[in-house]
Amino acid sequence: MQAPPPEVLFEDELRFLEAWDPGRRPRGFRMTAGAVVTFVMGSGGEALKLPKGVAGKKKDAPQSIVITPKFVGSRALVERSVVTLAGERGLLLVGEPGTAKSMLSEMLAAAISGTSSLTVQGTAGTTEDQLRYGWNYALLLAKGPHPEAIVPSPVLTAMRRGSLARIEEVTRCLPEVQDALVSILSDRRLAVPELSGSDPHVENAEEGFNVIATANLRDRGVSEMSAALKRRFNFETVPPIADARDEIALVKARASRMLERAEAKLEVDDAVLEAIVTVFRDLRLGRTEEGYAVEKPGTVMSTAEAVSVASSIGLSAAFLPSDRDLLGLLPGYLTGVVTKDDPKDHGRLLAYWDGAVKKRAESKLRIWQTLYELRGLLER
Ligand SMILES: Nc1ncnc2c1ncn2[C@@H]1O[C@H](COP(=O)(O)OP(=O)(O)O)[C@@H](O)[C@H]1O
Ligand SMILES: [Mg+2]
Repeated sequence: MQAPPPEVLFEDELRFLEAWDPGRRPRGFRMTAGAVVTFVMGSGGEALKLPKGVAGKKKDAPQSIVITPKFVGSRALVERSVVTLAGERGLLLVGEPGTAKSMLSEMLAAAISGTSSLTVQGTAGTTEDQLRYGWNYALLLAKGPHPEAIVPSPVLTAMRRGSLARIEEVTRCLPEVQDALVSILSDRRLAVPELSGSDPHVENAEEGFNVIATANLRDRGVSEMSAALKRRFNFETVPPIADARDEIALVKARASRMLERAEAKLEVDDAVLEAIVTVFRDLRLGRTEEGYAVEKPGTVMSTAEAVSVASSIGLSAAFLPSDRDLLGLLPGYLTGVVTKDDPKDHGRLLAYWDGAVKKRAESKLRIWQTLYELRGLLER
């Protein structure tokens, strides 16, 4: 499988956590709220052990395991998200692209419901059927209107199973399509008028059903959501990673994992990874580490993009080995990231080189001296 979902990737961790904490679970949750938070944030390197009373009974679960950290960010944000999902409102994760909103929603769904696959990807072409249900016309013609002829959307399947449904990029759907969610979230049921004779046919949500939606601030904004729908969600803003060292560690871990999948090792020096992340952070924040102002490009300089540049450089070293300096690859990939939206951004990248990069080169930081010497590559 090219991209196994978290419930497959972390099957052992999930089985362990379900058994680990015998405390009270919110209705429909497969584990306690605390265990969900631990799954997302990790156990801080500590090996957790099944409590004595449980260990004998749960022979199929691992007896002891280190929970890997997955989301890098605020524990309080994750706690609020879990609590929201145990309550009456849906959860809406908003933020810049590449801040791990989708990843967080997958992790939450895997831990809470055991599946992250009940997903609708919002686009300008998403229809109401994709949020509600469609029909199997062959069955409809053969048997007439009949519950079996309903083709459930992932949302309806989640209602029937008592699972979380994920709606990616909900604000890209047309507002009238988004509004199909209003009654689902407030009534927790879905009427099927086509099957209603004298008795209405209603699909009721089982305990555990809820919705996690994500929205990018760069697309059609959250401001265009109807007030009625907004009120059915608790909003959580997912910010970019605050701490530079955390971001460098994450980029290294992700790029290493990517290389492992290519059956190779990440042979990129820490100093190079640090330089990549520093460039991304400076341009994202509009301010260098040392405190100089930088003109921000209009495009997003996300952690996800930094991971992809680091992985590309790693793959290049693995598949096209040579004795050249890997730093020489950075300007090319960086130009690709920076100039994808606005041609003016290329000028901003050059200005960054002539300001911040030059200053660092002048203070004799070797890696920055090299990068400054490579300025010509940015102009090709
Ligand atoms: N705070 C973070 N914690 C963990 N991974 C992150 C974080 N921010 C970015 N990433 C990386 O970026 C990738 C892309 O994130 P994604 O969930 O697609 O972002 P979004 O949905 O916000 O656009 C993640 O898979 C992960 O590798
Ligand atoms: Mg996303």
